[in-house]
Amino acid sequence: MSQTSTRLETPFTTAALGSDVSFWKSYIASRPNPPETFFRLINEYHTNHSDGRMEVAHDVGTGPGNIAARLASYYDQVVGSDVNEQALAAAPKLISPDLLERMTFVQSPAEKLVTAGLPTELQQTDLVVVSECMPLLDAPRALEAFHALLRPGGTLAIYFYGRPIFPDPVCDEIYDRMATRICQFLLPFKGTPGEPFHRRGAEGLVSFLDNIALPAGDWQNVQRYKWNCDYPLLFNSPEGFDFEFHPVDRRAPSEVTHDIVDREFWVHEWDADDVKAYLDSVYPHYRHQAGESYAEIEAMREELRAAMGGKQKVTFSVVLVLGSKK
Ligand SMILES: C[S@@+](CC[C@H](N)C(=O)[O-])C[C@H]1O[C@@H](n2cnc3c(N)ncnc32)[C@H](O)[C@@H]1O
Repeated sequence: MSQTSTRLETPFTTAALGSDVSFWKSYIASRPNPPETFFRLINEYHTNHSDGRMEVAHDVGTGPGNIAARLASYYDQVVGSDVNEQALAAAPKLISPDLLERMTFVQSPAEKLVTAGLPTELQQTDLVVVSECMPLLDAPRALEAFHALLRPGGTLAIYFYGRPIFPDPVCDEIYDRMATRICQFLLPFKGTPGEPFHRRGAEGLVSFLDNIALPAGDWQNVQRYKWNCDYPLLFNSPEGFDFEFHPVDRRAPSEVTHDIVDREFWVHEWDADDVKAYLDSVYPHYRHQAGESYAEIEAMREELRAAMGGKQKVTFSVVLVLGSKK
């Protein structure tokens, strides 16, 4: 068997492993930046459902610490953990020294955080944030680790943003075609060691994270916010995949779901190059696998450029799941 056919390729994780500081710099630049009101909503939930302590926050799957740095405005100490050593090495080069003083980075899979060897004072956490990472994780094991890490009453905030949403449906259609074609360059998934990871990711997104069960014995006051989820959270159409998948709903009856359509939410001014940069960061290194067919993507970018006619307001489908540790 060739080396390529046995290599474990998983969504985002393996492709991003080995990526240096310049990769993470462009990653941050190409991603939507949640508005401060988004973090205030999380903090408000935390204040209303706990003793309101804001001593330690832990950002799981922190990558280069971009979201951990945002949490440092609110929490005395912030921990960022990730499997990717190089992302963690990039973090200090991308975060301002005044924030870094109060931040600690640790290499660990989310599922094994309990044994990650955190300093004693950081082992108990007021807030766990999982930004743009949950569909990559083994959810039941990761949730057990988050539960163990949190103080009683502590807050779990899991969120994920998906595709950009344009004012003009013509642009949505071009975007979808572009993302789906890019995903096809990465095939096959089926029959490869990465298939379970791709299935996990696709199922999570097509389910708007409703497949992530927060067991009622462990969690209370569970609230699920879904902004602009009249659009898919999946970055590309199911036709981009070579396996079938379906939405799964493991929500408990006591949970509250807020469905909100708000096209001003997380709004960014983007042009076709920004959209292309976003796609490049969502599917790292697809260009190599596209070979000469990469020209198709460039042609679609030009089609999108003509349809957008410059910068336009784009928003995103976003899901936020909040829960308090029992
Ligand atoms: C899309 S990036 C998100 C980075 C950052 N949290 C953000 O919101 O921009 C996903 C991150 O999850 C990390 N990741 C993937 N699997 C993981 C696991 N099992 N445990 C911890 N981190 C993981 C990847 O290494 C990567 O840095």
